[in-house]
Amino acid sequence: MAFQYQGATALITGASSGIGESFARILAAKGCNLILVARSEDVLNELAGDLHDEHGVTVDVMATDLSELQGCSNVIEATQALGREVDLLINNAGFGTMGPFVKADSARERQEIDLNVTALTSLCHAFLPAMVARKRGAIINVASTASFQPMPYLAVYAATKAYVRSLSEALHAESKSRGVTVTALCPGPVATNFFAATESKDIDSMVKRVSGIMMTPDQVAKDALAAMEKGRAVIVPGAPNKLGALAASLTPNRMLTGILAKTMKA
Ligand SMILES: NC(=O)c1ccc[n+]([C@@H]2O[C@H](COP(=O)([O-])OP(=O)(O)OC[C@H]3O[C@@H](n4cnc5c(N)ncnc54)[C@H](OP(=O)(O)O)[C@@H]3O)[C@@H](O)[C@H]2O)c1
Repeated sequence: MAFQYQGATALITGASSGIGESFARILAAKGCNLILVARSEDVLNELAGDLHDEHGVTVDVMATDLSELQGCSNVIEATQALGREVDLLINNAGFGTMGPFVKADSARERQEIDLNVTALTSLCHAFLPAMVARKRGAIINVASTASFQPMPYLAVYAATKAYVRSLSEALHAESKSRGVTVTALCPGPVATNFFAATESKDIDSMVKRVSGIMMTPDQVAKDALAAMEKGRAVIVPGAPNKLGALAASLTPNRMLTGILAKTMKA
């Protein structure tokens, strides 16, 4: 059955910028009520006000740090307190670390796992059972094309995204026959704050190298919703990214990691 946007409630993590903000704007225009989650309270409040004024939808804001256990509990409890059923969960909040593993800040990489993996899993646990019980609902988990192969110098980030894609495909297979879909969104490079958030010194050269295949967050969010409507388990937006993901899945990892170790180091 087609997803009914009008009057549904979507909970979007990482809604204060980039792909999450695009999801929020597109879904509000379709008549979806929203619960917006991120740490930047002022940004979320401003977005919520704009979307309510423009589209008349109800928008609630939950400003919290999802890399902390308490942050996830806050979102789950606050959603229950609102008395709202979540029809669409978009687990989008995430960030990446870059560089040699041996030089990485282990506390920051732990935070990356806590956000990209632990929080995402906790929110699936919190909202999927009720969707299955109602026999309707959808989850979009934001992975990455980095999920298709181990990536030297992006080691922890790629591993978190491989987890996200694997979990999503498994949950999709468990839930689809019960009226609920789980879609792994696997974008390639997208023009957002993501690159700046890596805190890498080489952002400019990194962005320059991928500029030819860079997509806008709006394109990515639209492709993801179209895939969700079709009940797809995985969506890789953009033809070059689709080709890259296909090539990666057909090439043995030991070959790929050797090539990537050289190109990523450069
Ligand atoms: N851009 C790309 O090239 C690309 C490619 C593939 C996959 N992705 C994935 O796409 C997703 C969205 O990223 P983006 O590209 O849109 O980057 P972005 O503009 O940096 O957005 C990241 C979002 O996550 C939120 N966030 C970060 N840390 C958080 C925390 N501890 N608790 C709660 N919220 C937090 C940020 O808001 P606050 O700072 O306000 O908390 C922001 O809203 C991520 O999962 C990323 O891994 C991005």
